[in-house]
Amino acid sequence: MTHIRKAEMVLEKDYRISEVDPRLYGSFVEHLGRAVYGGIYEPGHQTADKHGFREDVASLVKELQVPIVRYPGGNFVSGYNWEDGVGPKEQRPRRTELAWRTIETNEVGTNEFAQWAKKVGTDVMMAINLGSRGVDAARNFMEYCNHPGGSYYSDLRISHGVKEPHNFKLWCLGNEMDGPWQIGAKTAYEYGRLALESAKVMRGIDPSIELVACGSSGRGMPTFAEWEATVLDLTYDEVDYVSLHTYYGNRDNDTANFLARSLDMDQFIHSVIAICDYAKAKKRSKKDIHLSFDEWNVWFHSNEADRQIEPWSIAPPQLEDIYTLEDALLVGSMLISLLRRADRVKIACLAQLVNVIAPIMTETGGAAWRQTIFYPFMHASVFGRGVVLQPVVKSDKYDSKDFTDVPYLDSIAVLNEEKDELTVFAVNRNLEGGLDFDCHLRGFEDYKIVEHIVLTHDDLKATNTAAQPENVVPRANGNSRLEAGHIKSMLPKASWNVIRLSRNK
Ligand code: AHR
Repeated sequence: MTHIRKAEMVLEKDYRISEVDPRLYGSFVEHLGRAVYGGIYEPGHQTADKHGFREDVASLVKELQVPIVRYPGGNFVSGYNWEDGVGPKEQRPRRTELAWRTIETNEVGTNEFAQWAKKVGTDVMMAINLGSRGVDAARNFMEYCNHPGGSYYSDLRISHGVKEPHNFKLWCLGNEMDGPWQIGAKTAYEYGRLALESAKVMRGIDPSIELVACGSSGRGMPTFAEWEATVLDLTYDEVDYVSLHTYYGNRDNDTANFLARSLDMDQFIHSVIAICDYAKAKKRSKKDIHLSFDEWNVWFHSNEADRQIEPWSIAPPQLEDIYTLEDALLVGSMLISLLRRADRVKIACLAQLVNVIAPIMTETGGAAWRQTIFYPFMHASVFGRGVVLQPVVKSDKYDSKDFTDVPYLDSIAVLNEEKDELTVFAVNRNLEGGLDFDCHLRGFEDYKIVEHIVLTHDDLKATNTAAQPENVVPRANGNSRLEAGHIKSMLPKASWNVIRLSRNK
């Protein structure tokens, strides 16, 4: 019996979903585990620059071309006093950090992080604490960061050696404020009111900023939907985006079901768009609220190890998921889900960037390497800039434990008109065999195939480690060819594919 499945796709040059906002390829660094200390920052490391930032990590981050990095949390931000992280380092307090039960040394704070962001060529997506703090701290922090000078907090920044304002343009109004685990968790009404009042003072200082209101911390939250509707009802005129967060795992080792989880992400996005449009309709507003999917990834491998961690240690190895090939496939599909709704999802942050559920891993005092999930993210970030085309897909399907009609093919294409390049991203979810892929191109008569990159491995559980950093790596060995305006290929079983075309010059 053959295990080969079939899929067809049509791409027409003029049928478009939207321009991709480059911030779709954002990431996230939280003061958590070894993301900051031992991750981006390690003064004693052999590659450390004069500020203590690891050059080996910085160069891997640059490979990913992340345009924004969310900071400083996450759950951490809901108990964070921004004042602890500025000024002379020797005077900064050590604090008990209640979100992750560690000791925060505050060696790295706002100004250091901004310096690092500049070094790696990214912008900061800053978050304020709406858990343990509120309007006043938001106003003061905004003045410290974005006001040029001549006021108490802007002059304080200048006295800390930072003459020019940071001018952070994108701000999160707190983090996951619906979650009972959150420091200072709130009801939707309490949060909506606080977010609105904080937004007003923040915009009072810098009217050019963009603001993200907290949506639910997951689609499974009992207050999901009602939370978004209430928060948007209260904040609609003052905010620009609502946040979404999701993490998936393969706890019961059912890979076919695991790989279908991006269908849940599609539904989540679809529902939040519907709620935004409901709020718009209710207000007879002309403005659209867009989506900031500012936490997404696979997260489950490290759950058990995290339960064993000694509380009150400094930068312990928390949330250190070691990713497999199958995780990379789901990450690929999640990227495709984001691109599919690029008309409304304008910001997304892979959570996170280094060591903590991250594409980049390090050993403290040792090497840095790329995890499996590094590759689909990098490919999308590097090749997925331009206009997303509206594909018409016909694929063989399967049913899994939680999903029905799961297409074996998950695919999208991005046209870069400046470079005259077309990139097709495709996941073959078939675990038994190849996927016979036929992609009819319309309007691309003068295009040729540049390369067909494949990420796969015989072992779905294969990983990259310090000892074997190149066990799972992409290879330009796909077998795509062009035949009478069709891309024809056999996508290998359980694979991530990047088929790159460019116009004949
Ligand atoms: O990214 C890890 C954690 O997941 C974040 O701190 C929190 O916002 C979410 O629950």
